[in-house]
Amino acid sequence: MRHFLTLKDFTKEEILEIIDLAIKIKKQTKKGKLKPYLKDQTLGMIFEKSSTRTRVSFEVGIHQLGGKGLFLSANDLQLGRGEPMKDTARVISRMVDMVMIRTFSQSVLEEFAMYSRVPVISGLSDSFHPVQLMADYMTMVEYDKAENAVVAYVGDGNNMAHSWLMLASKLGFELRIATPKGYEVDAGILKEAMNFAEQSGAIITIGNDPKEAIKDANVVTTDTWVSMGQEAEKAKRLEDFKGYMVDDAMMALAQKDAIFLHCLPAYRDYEVSEAVFEAHADEVFDEAENRLHAQKGVMVWLDDHRDN
Ligand code: CP
Ligand code: NVA
Repeated sequence: MRHFLTLKDFTKEEILEIIDLAIKIKKQTKKGKLKPYLKDQTLGMIFEKSSTRTRVSFEVGIHQLGGKGLFLSANDLQLGRGEPMKDTARVISRMVDMVMIRTFSQSVLEEFAMYSRVPVISGLSDSFHPVQLMADYMTMVEYDKAENAVVAYVGDGNNMAHSWLMLASKLGFELRIATPKGYEVDAGILKEAMNFAEQSGAIITIGNDPKEAIKDANVVTTDTWVSMGQEAEKAKRLEDFKGYMVDDAMMALAQKDAIFLHCLPAYRDYEVSEAVFEAHADEVFDEAENRLHAQKGVMVWLDDHRDN
């Protein structure tokens, strides 16, 4: 049985296989001919943090596949009153067919998976957001940016930056990350990515100069400067990230037909200017829609890789 907790655990071939499946599923969905791949299955969805896209896309996705989504807010579960995660895992995984969890620590996901009888999917942790990256790569394929990709990530060295590191180092494309000093990516995750990059041929550059990162890139991306759980640091962060906004002057340095991606929610005139966001809104909202299809691909793939 396989889980989907980080792209670290997947080979290049497996990632591309899920992307192909997601593209096929999107086509079937658009034609109204989606096969009920997960007929009568239940997806438990545990949320310890807020969500718009992850919640709606997983709930609608499992419904479209013939199953049912069960929204479980951690506050309303006994989990919120101190029931251990490993007990929660042993109970819920006897009742549902698959589980998605959005939580703080990656170790919580790992613990849940260790005790789970069914596949577990990360819906974001403080370290990674792997389902988002499946949607992002799917969007790059659709916009013809996946071949010879040069991706510039400008902003916080957070879960999104870490996920881009994993995707690029597994698939073997060029990724340049520019963060302010003091907001660099995690050194351990970078080291793992560099090891994968040695095998895949990915070119990974880490620095503090957004202009250098964006120059001639064909994909420019960023994320909020204040992630969920960092609200207390907001004032300091907004100050420290000055100069890192993706605006018209920055985008002008990228390839002429470069696309802009953002996992959303986007904070206008902080990490991205209103003008850049609106000029690239088609790309960003195609990316958001692709969460729905990419995750159907992930769920169907995991269902196909059960032990029995
Ligand atoms: N991009 C993303 O995961 O959005 P939500 O926080 O709304 O789920
Ligand atoms: N880095 C952001 C991503 C939100 C989808 C956060 O963790 O809040």
